Amino acid sequence: MADEGVISHDQRSGSKPDRNLAMELVRVTEAGALAAGRWVGRGEKEQADGAAVDSMRLMLDTVPMDGVVVIGEGEKDEAPMLYNGEHIGDGSPPVVDIAVDPLEGTTLTARGMPSALSVIALAPRGTMFDPGPCVYMEKIATGPRAADLISLDDPLEDVIRRIAERKGGEPGDVTVIMLDRPRHEDAVAALREVGASIRFISDGDVAAALFAVMPNTGIDLLWGVGGTPEGVLSAAAIKCLGGRILGRLWPRDDDERKAAENAGYDISRVLDTDDLVGGDDAFFAATGVTDGDLLDGVRRLDDGSATTESLVMRSRSGTVRRIQATHDRPKLREVTGGRYG
Ligand code: FBP
Repeated sequence: MADEGVISHDQRSGSKPDRNLAMELVRVTEAGALAAGRWVGRGEKEQADGAAVDSMRLMLDTVPMDGVVVIGEGEKDEAPMLYNGEHIGDGSPPVVDIAVDPLEGTTLTARGMPSALSVIALAPRGTMFDPGPCVYMEKIATGPRAADLISLDDPLEDVIRRIAERKGGEPGDVTVIMLDRPRHEDAVAALREVGASIRFISDGDVAAALFAVMPNTGIDLLWGVGGTPEGVLSAAAIKCLGGRILGRLWPRDDDERKAAENAGYDISRVLDTDDLVGGDDAFFAATGVTDGDLLDGVRRLDDGSATTESLVMRSRSGTVRRIQATHDRPKLREVTGGRYG
């Protein structure tokens, strides 16, 4: 039956178009972005994140599904909502895993800096990688043209040379985007040595991963150690856009390594895109909070309304939508009793 969940046979066989959950998810990320948007540049990252969580959670209740949060705001005792393991939806199909980052770039938002996003991804139940105790992951991502050339085992310089050759150029023609962190010192030295160009970002490696896989952005590769949840969210987007991400868990110390090993994780394993998000029906939505290369942020207009820009994608169809919306905030506040808008 075509309406019996994301992974039903009839849907996979594509006999007729079916519900695209991403179209509903964009309302969720718009809600997160609008709420966080009120905190841009106010130096209060926790407040910004909390506002995004509340609004996102409210809007998620409107999506009929049987969802469980795999990537959320942390453990139940730390997070009042969107905690890992929380069940969301009315229990009707589709049966899905949920990854959320209501505010990807809390510091970017608090400081009014570019490229903060509100993000969500859904995939069939059991297909999303659960990071367990592992906060960080080493990641490398690129678009379809160089997908077969990346590796986390080979020296980064070799990957750069291969990409340069595929482009018909020199390593100097390859641009790598990476988080500006002291832990990346050796990689930066290697990239300098080979002559690649680096674009540093202060935060926000989901937007960076998307930029690295999209064509004609001037970025060839994302590399670096960043959040594991962000790696899973990026993988969902990359399944929709094309390209590839590889990840390897990166414990910060021996305690974290032991905790991961005790929980059954193989620290040395390189996880491919499909290990991070499996199946053939992932949904992804992101809305800009602050202006960035990928998306415009929330703009407040003189009449009290606000505009948002979002990316909405589905892996099965490969459809990528860019959605611009105008929100009548006074009206939204009225209909939601002040909880949204
Ligand atoms: P937050 O929104 O939680 O602040 O995360 C932003 C971010 O920059 C991610 O994009 C990235 O994966 C991670 O933090 C890197 O972690 P750290 O700042 O600890 O190096």
